Amino acid sequence: MLDLTNIRAELEAHYDLSPSVELAQQMSDIHARMDRVMPFPDWAVAAPYVAAINRLKAERGAVILAHNYMTPDIYHGIADVVGDSLQLAIEATRVEAEVIVQCGVHFMAETSKILNPSKTVLMPDMEAGCSLAESITAEGIAQMRAQYPGAMVVSYVNTTAEVKAASDICCTSSNAAQIVAAMPGDTVIMTPDKWLAQNVAAQVPQKRIVWWDGACIVHERFTPQDLRDFREWHPGLKIIAHPECPPDVVAEADFAGSTKHIIDWVGDHRPAKAMLVTECSMASNISDAHPEVEFLGPCNMCPYMKKITLEKVLWSLHSMTGAVEVDAAVADRARLAVQRMIDLSRQLAG
Ligand code: 13P
Ligand code: SF4
Repeated sequence: MLDLTNIRAELEAHYDLSPSVELAQQMSDIHARMDRVMPFPDWAVAAPYVAAINRLKAERGAVILAHNYMTPDIYHGIADVVGDSLQLAIEATRVEAEVIVQCGVHFMAETSKILNPSKTVLMPDMEAGCSLAESITAEGIAQMRAQYPGAMVVSYVNTTAEVKAASDICCTSSNAAQIVAAMPGDTVIMTPDKWLAQNVAAQVPQKRIVWWDGACIVHERFTPQDLRDFREWHPGLKIIAHPECPPDVVAEADFAGSTKHIIDWVGDHRPAKAMLVTECSMASNISDAHPEVEFLGPCNMCPYMKKITLEKVLWSLHSMTGAVEVDAAVADRARLAVQRMIDLSRQLAG
């Protein structure tokens, strides 16, 4: 576990991190991208960290890859690339800088390391896990294979490197239905997200899909009644859900898709009122780009994603600690599964 008391003392010895109205004003172009969700006094607290990280990033030759669930100060203030899991994986293959700082959860950093093994991939907090990644091991994949001999194993990228290495191919929420539909054979094993698997089953009726019993603790907390209540309270509300939600929740939504597809949908449709049935920061991050849209709750917070803070990013770049390592033999096999997904995704997109 990170020793935040010592980390703070060490950072304060090297950087002026006291709140600064002057710096906040100088960096008002960055604040303008999150003005609706970050009051100026909060920005005056964040700005010294953002300035220090951006300076250090240049000195270290680092790039920051950030998931769409990062808080707005990270998403708008320090990220070089933002995106969903598929976009971040593809971007990781293209990084030329020596250092990648992964602002997301551990499996994302592992994926970057697997795809670009010569780079140093820093994870600002190693404890940023994922309930899905923690739900299955390579042994679980072996059990599924024994139960359904000959069936292809499609594992969500929200898995450890060992699980990817034991799978035939990966998928993300962006491409799961297309990947499953393209698999040979009648039966396809999907791990570890039972809800994503059931949502894909509805889209790909020609396959018999069997699944592992994992779930995302953020998305499985939404209920169909939550969605019906919000529709009743806010006439005209458009509801956009993530496919990690249970199928009865997805059925109540106007659209379901990956975090990138959710952002695209809002941009294309510009509804007057929208409810994003996903992690809280999504609405915050796109709020200023869509001033005409009123974003309504509820939203759930991912405790793992929220472990990544400006302070921890600054520490990882300052100390160059928290490098993610993946056993070379495991990485080689996991890379096959991730690269197959990237190649098939590209091929299917035409
Ligand atoms: P996507 O960004 O790929 O939709 O994934 C959502 C998620 O839960 C990542 O942990
Ligand atoms: Fe895992 Fe869900 Fe958090 Fe994504 S939102 S990291 S799937 S627990």
